Amino acid sequence: MNEIKKITVAIPGAPHEYEIKIGTNILPELGQFTRKCVGRKTTRVCLISNRKIFGFYGGTARQSLEDADFEVSIFLMPDGEKHKNLRVLEKVLAFFSEKRLTRSDAVVALGGGVVGDLAGFASAIFGRGLPFIQVPTTFLAQIDSSVGGKTAVNTVFGKNLIGAFHQPHGVLIDITTLKTLPLREMRAGLYEAVKQGAIASRILFDQTQDILQRFPPRNFRRDFENEHFLFELQNLIAANIAFKAGIVSGDERENVEREDSRSRRILNFGHTVGHALEKVTLYKRFKHGEAVGLGMRAAAEISNRIGKISKHELNLFSDVVESVGKLPQADNIDPEIVIKAFSHDKKTVGDSFKWILLDGIGRAAITDNNNIPENIVREAVSSVLRQ
Ligand code: NAD
Ligand code: GLY
Repeated sequence: MNEIKKITVAIPGAPHEYEIKIGTNILPELGQFTRKCVGRKTTRVCLISNRKIFGFYGGTARQSLEDADFEVSIFLMPDGEKHKNLRVLEKVLAFFSEKRLTRSDAVVALGGGVVGDLAGFASAIFGRGLPFIQVPTTFLAQIDSSVGGKTAVNTVFGKNLIGAFHQPHGVLIDITTLKTLPLREMRAGLYEAVKQGAIASRILFDQTQDILQRFPPRNFRRDFENEHFLFELQNLIAANIAFKAGIVSGDERENVEREDSRSRRILNFGHTVGHALEKVTLYKRFKHGEAVGLGMRAAAEISNRIGKISKHELNLFSDVVESVGKLPQADNIDPEIVIKAFSHDKKTVGDSFKWILLDGIGRAAITDNNNIPENIVREAVSSVLRQ
């Protein structure tokens, strides 16, 4: 068993700091971990998950919480991005109310980014804020969404437009929960890992490339038997979290005035086109990570076409994206509809919006759309959708 890694997220001015614990087979410690994070006074915990994830891990999670003297209630939401919406949110809030939760109670989110975002938002607004613990069970949620306190639901106005910043009280990451993850979901998370590497540092990008080469994703379930793989995976998750925690600590609220390469906005690399693709396909066709994969290919294309990265860097970047797995086909989507959708996206400020581009691999560059010729955007989006 690998040594447990711990990362503390300390955000200046935030009411609490929190610990992220990353290890193998540590789900049975959830109760003790939650107790440590929320304190001795908390008696009730609402565990939010979905039927599928609860079927795999709910029993262990529940038992562990009960063993730590919590009274546990369970809410199982429907599975899928299309259920990260106001209707399900309202049901969760009604459930909290029925269980008479107060601010001295707590919420535990057991699942991927969908469960985490919705449970986190419900915790943010019920009673003006309940403590919540993230127990991410997808690779994407383990490296990204469970950390940083962004919580939200999707609406017809756009993805994640209705939400709140609400930091968790703790994050427990049991990497062995990934062994039941479908390959397509693992790949979706790995695209996000490539994203983080591309904007974080050449070191993280190379680490991601290296693990993808040595442990091709198609074999990932079998690799869970391999101690070496688990060691490398844990290190990769920890490195991604350390990067994200550093960004969030320096810019928790994603200050729109900031345009430097360490502002939180850089985490949206690939999201301008990615969110638009999700929206125009009604959140049904792509996994979030796949849409981001296509989106960051488009952003890298633009970066190359306006001279920020060389052809060699573009090819290297594309090869690493490709090594995760082939991105879904998108050639029947009209690029004009996608361009129209992102022009109305939440990143719009005034009459323009910002792109997150690359200034070399490992460094992000925030660039105003007005400074990019329209035909370059059009060509980049079209070429990526055609591939
Ligand atoms: P998801 O939550 O839909 O999970 C993907 C699928 O895997 C689901 O069917 C789920 O039931 C299943 N699953 C989860 N864990 C499993 C396991 N261990 N074994 C078997 N099946 C399992 O998708 P996701 O990719 O985790 O999250 C995507 C969401 O995260 C999007 O809504 C996106 O907007 C959000 N997100 C939020 C942030 C943030 O900072 N808050 C960052 C990135 C993404
Ligand atoms: N996933 C983007 C952020 O957390 O800011």
